[in-house]
Amino acid sequence: MGPARRLLPPSSSLPAIRSLNDQPESFILSALSDLYSLYCPLPTSLAFQTNSAPKDPPVAADSGYASDNDEDTGECEQGFELRDDPYERAFAERWLTSFLGRVEELTCFESEDSQQYAIDKASCVLASFFCEEGEENIEDTEITRDYRFTLNLGSGGVKEHGENTKSETITVQLTDGLAGRDNTDHTDVGLQSWGAAFIFTELMCAAPACLNITKDALGSAPRIIELGAGTGLVGIALGKILPPLGVPTSTIIATDFHPTVLANLEANIIKNFAAQRDSPSPSIRVARLDWQTPDLSSPLDKQADVLVATDVIYDPEHAVWLRDCAARMLKPGGIFWLMLTVRTTGKFEGISNTVRASFNGHDGLRNPQGCVLTILDEKRFARPSGIGRGDESEYRLFRIGWAS
Ligand SMILES: C[S@@+](CC[C@H](N)C(=O)[O-])C[C@H]1O[C@@H](n2cnc3c(N)ncnc32)[C@H](O)[C@@H]1O
Repeated sequence: MGPARRLLPPSSSLPAIRSLNDQPESFILSALSDLYSLYCPLPTSLAFQTNSAPKDPPVAADSGYASDNDEDTGECEQGFELRDDPYERAFAERWLTSFLGRVEELTCFESEDSQQYAIDKASCVLASFFCEEGEENIEDTEITRDYRFTLNLGSGGVKEHGENTKSETITVQLTDGLAGRDNTDHTDVGLQSWGAAFIFTELMCAAPACLNITKDALGSAPRIIELGAGTGLVGIALGKILPPLGVPTSTIIATDFHPTVLANLEANIIKNFAAQRDSPSPSIRVARLDWQTPDLSSPLDKQADVLVATDVIYDPEHAVWLRDCAARMLKPGGIFWLMLTVRTTGKFEGISNTVRASFNGHDGLRNPQGCVLTILDEKRFARPSGIGRGDESEYRLFRIGWAS
C-alpha cells in the first residue's frame, strides 16, 4: 500500500454534476472514495460496502443488515481541518444530493455493479453527515422521493393482443428515515426501502389480477396486513391502487417492530393520505408487531384476507417466526404474499432456503378447518436494472395459503 493521497477540498475537486457523463467512471468512483475517506472515519456506518477501492467495485455489496463488523478507517486520519470546514461540508452535501438524484440517468458507469457501488458510497457519506449533525438538522436532510407506478386498470391487469388498457399513475412519496438514524443501531434496516418492495409494487400495479388484487377476489372491504413494512411502500401503494380497482373501503395495517421504523412509517402514511381525506380511501394505519413475540391484540385481533411481506427473511429464524404469525393471522381462504430476496453471499448464504423448509411439510400448523399453511406457488424474478442492491441476486414470490 502506498502513502495516503492528500485529500483535496470537495469544492475544488468534485466534477460539476452536469459534466458527470463526460468523466470516466474511474474518476467519479475516485472522487466518491475521497469524499468517503474525508467524511467517514466511522467505525460503523450505513455503509453496505465500505471498502474504499474505487478500481474494484464490488461484485456483491453487503446489504448492510446488522453491519456490525469493524470497518477499515483507512485514510481517515488526515483531513481534520477540511472535514470541519462548514463550507466544504455543505458543498459536499449538495453535490452528493444532486448526484444521488441523477445517478440513475448517468451513462458513465460501465456496469450496474459500479453504479450501485457509487450509490452506496454516496449514500454512506451523505448519511454520515446526517447522523453526526443531530436532531436539529434532521428535517433539512431527510431524503424524500416520489415513486411513480403505472396502475393497469384494464382487463384484469393483463394486456392482450396489444389492446389499449386503461391505466393510471400512482405516486408514493417516501421518506427514508436514514437521516435520523442512530448510527449504532443495526436493526433499523426498515428505514430504507428495499428492492423487493419495489418489485412487488411494480407487479401489483402492472398485473393486479395476478396477485388476486381485484374486487372479485377481495370483496369491497378486505383486511390486509403488511409484516415488516419498513418505509411502507407496499402498504401505501395498496392504499392507493385499491379504490381505482373498485375496492373502496379496505383496512390496511402496516406493521413493524422497530420504534424508529414505526415512527417513519407513520409519517410516510400521513404524508401520502393527508390530501385524500375527502375522497373514498382505505383505512390505513400502523401497528407494532414483533414476529418473534406477536401481540395480536387490537388492531391485529382480526384475521386478514391478505398478508404481505417483502424482504423480511434475512435471519435463519425469520421464516419460522413469520410462518407461525401467518398461521394465526391469516383467514381461511386468505393469501400470504411473501417476496423473498435471495442473497447468496456472506452471512445470508442459504437463508433463502429457510422459507420452503419452514412452510412446507409442517403438519403442526393446521387451522380449525383442518387445513395446513402451505406454499401454493413460487415465482422467480431477476433483479431488474436500477433496482435493488448488488448482493440481491434474485427475488422469489411465494403464494402461501391454506391447503387441505
Ligand atoms: C429489509 S427490511 C424490509 C422492509 C420493507 N418490507 C421493504 O421491503 O422495503 C426488513 C423489515 O423487517 C422488520 N423486522 C425485522 N425483524 C422483525 C421482527 N422480529 N418483527 C417485525 N418486524 C421485523 C424490520 O424492522 C424491517 O422494517
